[in-house]
Amino acid sequence: MERYEFRYLSQEDILALNLSYADVIDAVEKGMSEFGRGTCQLPVKIHTNPRPLTFLNAMPAYIGGDQDITGLKWVAGFPENRRKGLPVTWGIMVMNDCETGGVTAIMDARWITAIRTAAVAAVTAKYCKVKDTHSMTIIGAGEQGRWNARLIKMVVPELKKIYIHDLYDAAVDAYLAKMQPLMPEVEFIPIRNMEQRQQAIDDSQILLSATQRSDKPIIYCENLHKGMLGLPLESTAWDGKTYTQMADRFICDDWNLVKCYLDDGKYTDGLDKFTNNHQILGKVINGDACGRANEDEFVIASSHGIAISDVAVGQMVLKKAEEKNIGTMLPLIQEVDIIR
Ligand SMILES: NC(=O)c1ccc[n+]([C@@H]2O[C@H](COP(=O)([O-])OP(=O)(O)OC[C@H]3O[C@@H](n4cnc5c(N)ncnc54)[C@H](O)[C@@H]3O)[C@@H](O)[C@H]2O)c1
Repeated sequence: MERYEFRYLSQEDILALNLSYADVIDAVEKGMSEFGRGTCQLPVKIHTNPRPLTFLNAMPAYIGGDQDITGLKWVAGFPENRRKGLPVTWGIMVMNDCETGGVTAIMDARWITAIRTAAVAAVTAKYCKVKDTHSMTIIGAGEQGRWNARLIKMVVPELKKIYIHDLYDAAVDAYLAKMQPLMPEVEFIPIRNMEQRQQAIDDSQILLSATQRSDKPIIYCENLHKGMLGLPLESTAWDGKTYTQMADRFICDDWNLVKCYLDDGKYTDGLDKFTNNHQILGKVINGDACGRANEDEFVIASSHGIAISDVAVGQMVLKKAEEKNIGTMLPLIQEVDIIR
């Protein structure tokens, strides 16, 4: 056999590809759509937890149909890393050839995780928002707070105002300094106290939370109004009754994954109302389920992140890297017979 090589892509290699965010949203939408058709394989995540409040998730997926993509993400979440000057969420992706199983690429998973999470929220907004979505409130001015502003605006062009809140004023200031020049077409409005937070939510048609997990919820039914899309990136930030009493419609990326979080007690008021009545984002995209029935519904979208979106973006990254010849080719094996 010839020497078998795979492509290695660092985070900086991926950044050098200058991938279009619109293309990422498109790739995620296509992957989710295929998942909605039932042609994919998605085992539920398995994990280790080497330290309290940390995780390492193994996330394999196969996307079928005419996409025929497979790979695995091995991703870590270590909240204390912030203090060490390291990313909280990072890891690698392995992409494989569906014919041989051969490794085609090993690549950084940090950029992919960050952008695919926002892309899923953007696709959800595209299908579940009310018609005139002029304002959005984002709680949590961190990594996801930034990515979501960027990608949701791409699918909600009518969005004019983004209110931004954080536990720390300094985080809001840093957010404004970064995001306002990047998105001059949107007015970013800082929220400095809980009264302003409520006024912002009252004026918003999308409420997205991207905070860290904490013991107590930060959003309750009385904060919300009809005709909204709720996008919790961490299910526990929203009181259990926001799902069971406030929500008219429940959208998720994968019900099997939601059930794991449910069994873990993350939905404190249960989800009985939606056991037989939830909608899968992929089916909504395909027109086989309804993302919003009218302008009055309160729609909540609880997507915990599935590897379908990771491998969809991973494949896009790999294709572009091959075209531009970016990355480093590394040898994996040289010969088949290795008995000495
Ligand atoms: N569903 C998914 O697929 C998915 C994927 C990635 C991340 N996430 C989740 O998204 C959340 C945000 O991730 P990130 O990478 O942006 O984290 P981050 O640490 O970069 O940002 C979180 C921000 O929230 C702020 N915050 C914390 N508690 C708050 C509160 N009570 N009120 C207001 N602000 C508060 C923090 O100060 C910080 O600025 C995390 O919970 C993460 O687990 C979900």
